Amino acid sequence: MKPTFADQKRKTVETAEFTEEGRYKRKIRSFVLRTGRLSEFQKNMMNDHWGALGLDYQSSPFDFVSIYGNTHPVILEIGFGMGKSLVDMAYANPDKNYLGIEVHTPGVGACIAYAVEKGVKNLRVICHDATEILRDSIADNTLGGLQLFFPDPWHKAKHHKRRIVQPHFVDQVVKKLAENGFIHMATDWENYAEQMLEVLRTNAHLVNTSAQGDYIPRPSFRPLTKFEARGQRLGHGIWDLFFTKK
Ligand SMILES: C[S@@+](CC[C@H](N)C(=O)[O-])C[C@H]1O[C@@H](n2cnc3c(N)ncnc32)[C@H](O)[C@@H]1O
Repeated sequence: MKPTFADQKRKTVETAEFTEEGRYKRKIRSFVLRTGRLSEFQKNMMNDHWGALGLDYQSSPFDFVSIYGNTHPVILEIGFGMGKSLVDMAYANPDKNYLGIEVHTPGVGACIAYAVEKGVKNLRVICHDATEILRDSIADNTLGGLQLFFPDPWHKAKHHKRRIVQPHFVDQVVKKLAENGFIHMATDWENYAEQMLEVLRTNAHLVNTSAQGDYIPRPSFRPLTKFEARGQRLGHGIWDLFFTKK
């Protein structure tokens, strides 16, 4: 049977890189590609609506004005999970454009299905490694903000190198932010919150909006996410960080 568009997507979340001797270069990835079941419904939604709501990795920057048909600020969200909170934010903020990146295909299918149900037009989704999208497909000084909600905590010390929030990741994000652009992170792991704070504070181009110089109270404009709800059930605390580019 010929593979459908959604089937193809499951195998292309990063571009292969090779050493000078032609050997495959293994990367430290911030995700494990789980082959969770893509339901028939999610698959059909992806196949039917990718043209309107999906974007593919490209080696040159996206032209946001032609993609969204306006000059509203573009807010990038990395790792949107099933996408419910992202779609709710896009629906609530028609004066902003949203760009969501997620490597988990069933999440991308679910996000597209919910976006179609809500009729949102100011959202595009990408199924690819966000670090490659940032590096290659987004022009410098063009993003209104970055949202990173409950990224994989990689709680064992030997896995901390897999955490997406590292100095070089934040340097890259800052390069892509427009002046006054924001970085909003949230986590339910205290140790990851401390790492986020340290990395964001150390970047000379960022200003912390927290009154005490650390975390901000949970903002009501951030919808409850699936992982946040799970953290709450487990009795975890929540830490929100909000920095802006000078
Ligand atoms: C713990 S989940 C949180 C999902 C959602 N933000 C929430 O709060 O419910 C983290 C998500 O980030 C995605 N992810 C991790 N690294 C990524 C990367 N480099 N590019 C795109 N998505 C990534 C994972 O697939 C996973 O779905």
